[in-house]
Amino acid sequence: MTSEPTSATAAAIARAAELLRAGGLVAFPTETVYGLGADATSDAAVARIYAAKQRPRFNPLIAHVPGLAEAEAEGVFDAPARALAEAFWPGPLTLVVPRRRDGRVGELARAGLDSVGLRAPAHPVAQALLRAVGRPVAAPSANRSGRVSPTLAVHVAADLGGRVDMILDGGPTEVGVESTIVACLGGAPALLRPGGAPRAAIEAALGAALGESPAAAAAPLAPGMLASHYAPRAAVRLQADSLLPGEVGLDFAGRLGQGALDLSPRGDLVEAAANLFAYLRRLDETGAARIAVAPVPADGLGEAICDRLARAAAPRP
Ligand code: TXA
Ligand code: MG
Repeated sequence: MTSEPTSATAAAIARAAELLRAGGLVAFPTETVYGLGADATSDAAVARIYAAKQRPRFNPLIAHVPGLAEAEAEGVFDAPARALAEAFWPGPLTLVVPRRRDGRVGELARAGLDSVGLRAPAHPVAQALLRAVGRPVAAPSANRSGRVSPTLAVHVAADLGGRVDMILDGGPTEVGVESTIVACLGGAPALLRPGGAPRAAIEAALGAALGESPAAAAAPLAPGMLASHYAPRAAVRLQADSLLPGEVGLDFAGRLGQGALDLSPRGDLVEAAANLFAYLRRLDETGAARIAVAPVPADGLGEAICDRLARAAAPRP
């Protein structure tokens, strides 16, 4: 853990790439804002992002890649998505596209969604780092939840110092606001978040207007609605202390005992967060009518876990 920014020399970038490949947390500059990076293919590494940011909810994270070739290994690009990537990448545009079944971005980085947010940042330090890592890097802005996004390495140090393995200092970020997010999920592309790439430039590249509010396919993307998108098919019963007939169990710290999938037998909330989406999916795939969930403490990362579980258990539309 460190609290001091490290100048982004070639040697420092190589070390940062090693840290990321080993499951560490590295803050790095992009042209928009500093990102808090972790290996997007590892749910355990991504869980550490939420812990460091003290984020009360699991939002899907942007997976950063060097360019379109790497992005196409993760997501399915239709004609508008490819046109936008070619016009704006590398740059301050994130594209939300259907994930590829054989893509490597993990469940936690996608927050269990069947889409994936991808961006090729233009900052030379980010480019060098991503090429050295050779895997997609999940990175939200490198600030604590509820604070403003960092545009200097010292902002990151002030906010997250002592909670990250390395802070790569690449000077002030040029754009200063987050990337524009456009969903390309079939039909007209929709603007999910205004940002560094202006709407007019995007519409010029598309030769068409952007969908105003997210279309039907994109609507569940608003963070508050995530649950209704990836609610498991099975019903969900919370605060269970035993399994009833017809139930499968999602356990925490060995409460439900044999036959349940335990998010963390040793009661570690970071481990539990890392397992959450993958385990929900596995239990759903058993075809059981209901998933019984053991109590999970609501402190630390438990707040996000409990939020997600409450949404999964909420009445369905
Ligand atoms: O400029 C930026 O975009 C910065 C730098 C570090 O790249 N990153 C950033 O990440 O702003 P973050 O986590 O603060 O914002 C990510 C946004 C979230 O609001 C999330 O809802 C959306 O991206 N997002 C990512 N994947 C998505 C998906 N599959 N579906 C819908 N929204 C997605
Ligand atoms: Mg942010």
